[in-house]
Amino acid sequence: MNIPFLDLKAQYHSIKSEIDSAIQKTLENTAFVLGPEIENFEKEFAAFCGVKYAIAVNSGTAALHLALLSLGIKQGDEVITVPNTFIATAEAISHCGAIPVFCDISEETFNIDENLIESKITSRTKAIIPVHLYGNSCNMDKINEIAKKYNLFVIEDACQAHGAEYKNKRVGSLSNIAAFSFYPGKNLGCYGEGGIIVTNNSELADKCKLYRAHGENPKNTHNVIGYNYRLEGLQGAILRVKLKYLNQWNEQRRKNAEIYTKLLKDIVITPKISENNKSIFHVYSIRHKNRDKLREFLQLKGIATGIHYEKPIHFQKAYAFLNYKESDFPVAEKVTKEILSLPMYPELTESQIEYVCNSIKEFENLKF
Ligand SMILES: Cc1ncc(COP(=O)(O)O)c(C=O)c1O
Repeated sequence: MNIPFLDLKAQYHSIKSEIDSAIQKTLENTAFVLGPEIENFEKEFAAFCGVKYAIAVNSGTAALHLALLSLGIKQGDEVITVPNTFIATAEAISHCGAIPVFCDISEETFNIDENLIESKITSRTKAIIPVHLYGNSCNMDKINEIAKKYNLFVIEDACQAHGAEYKNKRVGSLSNIAAFSFYPGKNLGCYGEGGIIVTNNSELADKCKLYRAHGENPKNTHNVIGYNYRLEGLQGAILRVKLKYLNQWNEQRRKNAEIYTKLLKDIVITPKISENNKSIFHVYSIRHKNRDKLREFLQLKGIATGIHYEKPIHFQKAYAFLNYKESDFPVAEKVTKEILSLPMYPELTESQIEYVCNSIKEFENLKF
């Protein structure tokens, strides 16, 4: 049996007629950049997150960058985040001229270890970016408490966590400002690049809007040196259709995760989700001491897997100048060698999950 890591085609076919007519409508009304579909989507996504404002942009990276700029993060500032995230989290900090300061993670959740944050704070620290990795919220109460104590901003990197909850509140509503990505494989993905910023703060929202489109307001008046981070109208039309299905898709992912966990819990280390959290399982990642061999074995069985992420950012050449060394982040470094992301999407069937789990059991029974 061949099981892809993602199946975007299956999802498209399940909503094809709605998507096709939304695209057709945009072709006819020619609102190709921003426009009414984007404005409506912004309102709908803000309501989905339980916040007042949403500003659509053309990637999650752009969303993080503008969120930081709107808070005034600048040259020489330090921003605390984790080394086991997509590099864009650190890049957005660097794009402001600031310095990413890494903090190790919890071995249970793979999210920032809030007990280590205070040890990373200096007089230059301005903000913390907790990353809700794999669609599972960080411990936001503790993070916000530290931020308050040291007068720091909190920016949620919710790029993997559309609809995830912490204490019955949606991520994106739990900090000063948050960023989401609509990269195609995300739980809410568009058909190209896309992202969005959400906040309850009108000043921050206005700044993000200004930076998004060349600092222009009103027309032909450029108030700041901005960017072209505008989202395409077609993506807005597509995202509006898909947003209606997101709760249902997230629920199906949770069901799939439950089946995986039930079948695998005695064989491998399965994800731990706190009682405070409702994960959306963007990624379902297990841990295994013999990860690389297991991955090869699954590949021979036709099962595609992923590793999120293969190399922590402090080991990437781009960030060598920060002079981190081996063992600086022992937990992140340890789990990186053991994590394996299994196929996960709403359309995955129970028999496909059983096949994956049986193949892992088969691997376990092999003698090396
Ligand atoms: C945690 C995290 N942060 C930031 C990003 C950047 O988003 P984008 O690829 O839309 O720029 C991603 C997307 O892969 C992500 O997973």
